[in-house]
Formats: sequence, C-alpha cells, structure tokens
Amino acid sequence: MWAEKRSYRIAAIPADGIGPDVVGAGLRVLEAVAARDEDLSFEITHYDWGSDYYKIHGEMMPADGLDQLKAHDAILFGAVGSKDVPDHITLWGLRLQICQGFDQYANIRPTRILPGIPTPLHGKGVGDLDWVIVRENSEGEYSGHGGRVHRGLPEEVATEVAIFTRTGVTRIMRYAFRLAQARPRKFLTVVTKSNAQRHGMVMWDEIAAEVAQDFPDVTWDKMLVDAMTVRMTRYPESLDTIVATNLHADILSDLAGALAGSLGVAPTANIDPERRFPSMFEPIHGSAFDIAGKGIANPVATFWTVCQMLEHLGEIESAARLMKAIEDVCASGTMTPDVGGQATTQIVTDAVIQAIRTSNA
Ligand code: NAI
Ligand code: MG
Repeated sequence: MWAEKRSYRIAAIPADGIGPDVVGAGLRVLEAVAARDEDLSFEITHYDWGSDYYKIHGEMMPADGLDQLKAHDAILFGAVGSKDVPDHITLWGLRLQICQGFDQYANIRPTRILPGIPTPLHGKGVGDLDWVIVRENSEGEYSGHGGRVHRGLPEEVATEVAIFTRTGVTRIMRYAFRLAQARPRKFLTVVTKSNAQRHGMVMWDEIAAEVAQDFPDVTWDKMLVDAMTVRMTRYPESLDTIVATNLHADILSDLAGALAGSLGVAPTANIDPERRFPSMFEPIHGSAFDIAGKGIANPVATFWTVCQMLEHLGEIESAARLMKAIEDVCASGTMTPDVGGQATTQIVTDAVIQAIRTSNA
C-alpha cells in the first residue's frame, strides 16, 4: 500500500520588526518537521505586506489580499507595528482585516510553564499552570460600534458599544465546551462580569448553561473577571480551559503570558472552526522595536503556534514531535535573553531543528 501524500499550502506574512526573524525561524522548523515524514510537505507563499509595503503603496496589503490568501490551508503571521505608521493603521489594515474577513471567531491561546522557563509565580513550576484561553474574536467590546459627537467641546460624548449576539456567543461557547471535552480534565471556566453588566454578560451566562446541557461530561464553573485575576495568580492549578469575551480574554491572556514567563513564548491561533477560510497562526507579541535587528527575538512563541497550525491541519504526530523538541531545548537552557538565557534566535532555532531530527517520537 502507498501512504497518502499530504501537502499543505501555507501563506507566510512576516510583516514588521522581529516578525521576519521569528517567521523565518518558524519556516525552518516547519521544513525540519516535513523532513521527518516523507509523505508530508509544505508549499510556502511569501508575502511582503506590512509597514514597508504601506510606505510604498499606501495600504498594508493589496485590495485583493484576502483573495490571494484564500487558496491556502493556513497563514503564518509575524507581527505588525512600526515607529512611523500609526498603530490603528497597521493593526486594522492587515491583521484585523484577515481575522474579520475570514471570520476567525475563535482565538485560542494555550499557556503552560515550559521546563526551564522561570515563572514569577512563587513556588510554582511545570504542571501547575496548563490552560487554554478561548477568546471571542469577532464581536463584543471590539466590534467597532460607537462614535463621538461635539468633538473638543465640554459636552463631547464618546460611546464604545459592546455587541453580543446569540449566534456569536453560542458558537464560541460550543467551541470552548468541545475543546474542554477534548482535554484530559474536561473542565471549563466561563468568565463574565454579569454582576455589573446585566445585559450582554447575563446572556453569556444563560447561553453557557444552555450549551452545557449538550456536554454532560464537561464540568464547568463561572467566574467574574476581576476575581479571575486572583484565581489565576493564586490557584493556577484550579483552571484548565477558559472562555471569555474579546476584551476580557485579551487582558487575561496577557496576564497568562506573563505568568508563564514571557510574551516571547506565548502563541495564539485565529481559527475559523467551520474551515470556510484559512486560519491564522501567530505569536502574541508585537514587532518589538527595542530588539528588532539584534537577532535575539525569542522564536518559541512562533514554534508553538506552528504546533497549533500542525494540529489544525490534522498533523497530530508532527505537532507532538515539535512540542517535545521545544520543551527539550528550553529544558536544556538554550534560551534567548528575555527568559534568562544567552542564546540568539538562530542558536535556539538550530537546537530545535536538531531535536526534531534526532527525536525518536
Ligand atoms: P511587543 O510585544 O512588540 O514588545 C513588548 C516587550 O516584549 C518588548 O520589550 C519586547 O522586546 C518584548 N518581546 C516581545 N516579543 C519578544 C520576543 N519574541 N522575544 C523577546 N522579547 C520579546 O509590544 P509593544 O512594544 O507594545 O509594541 C510594539 C509594536 O507592536 C507596536 O506598534 C504595537 O502596536 C505592535 N503590536 C502588534 C501586535 C501584533 O502584530 N499582533 C501585538 C502587539 C503589539
Ligand atoms: Mg493583547
């Protein structure tokens, strides 16, 4: 019997600052992953979109950008952000266009303390913190609904309206319950602020209870977002899968990243669960002007998001092999300065590639 060949089309958008460093490292690692499986290959399309492109063309990506991306199985994204282009242009012009245009409504942020990486949590280490945060990625507080009138006058009014739809909340809740069900602990925490916000947040609670009936094997509890920060820092082992609104999860996941050691190790995936469009994989961090061009960007967040990409593509064995390689290299102390090491991006990348080559997993 011939094994079936699997080939995936990946769009790479490194963009700004350290984006090209970490995406370049991620693609080298992806090549090493493919080399371990003779039936697996990746076809990469490189896009030069970002702030430099904007300075020449007046837009972050061409008007038919989404059409060009559509034909791919996944997108690997670096970071946007440049000192001489305003942040709302770089963010809305590229990353958010892709997230919204492809209805990537589930933003998935795994967080774990990796071996060898110091956590600011006293007395805690590997195994004490193992979470996946599910962030609603299409509506809520970031729906862009609102406006300003009487600008500059004393009576100026600004509104920023959070939009919650039954469809939007139900689909993210179902995703979160399914994910919780697939993890060993089968445990979900639903975060809201339904004591003070009595419309949208109360609907979240109600929909959680409705969806829960379809997942009798998943245990779940509710937290108010303010109390959640305390639980995350004091009792990290009491949490597993977490679902929250766009804004709440944005804030909680930065806290999660810090508790796990550094933004440089925190990955994220923007998923279209219905697979109508390619999903997008990226490190959480930005373009990091302060270390751009120095060759010391931590590539671990990008490697981890490549794992998420492999899982999404159904390449479970390769994903596990890569995650093991990342953990082994961190444990060996080959790390960049942001997590207390002395290695460069290239040294860490070479070590992970070597670990993939020699792993017997
Ligand atoms: P940042 O995430 O770029 O950097 C924050 C701090 O973390 C810096 O000290 C940086 O050196 C460090 N850091 C980040 N990633 C690292 C890595 N891989 N290895 C080692 N250290 C790392 O956030 P900042 O400085 O607030 O924003 C810089 C630019 O990035 C801004 O223009 C911002 O709008 C943009 N940004 C873009 C994001 C994206 O593309 N998804 C997300 C966050 C910010
Ligand atoms: Mg954020």
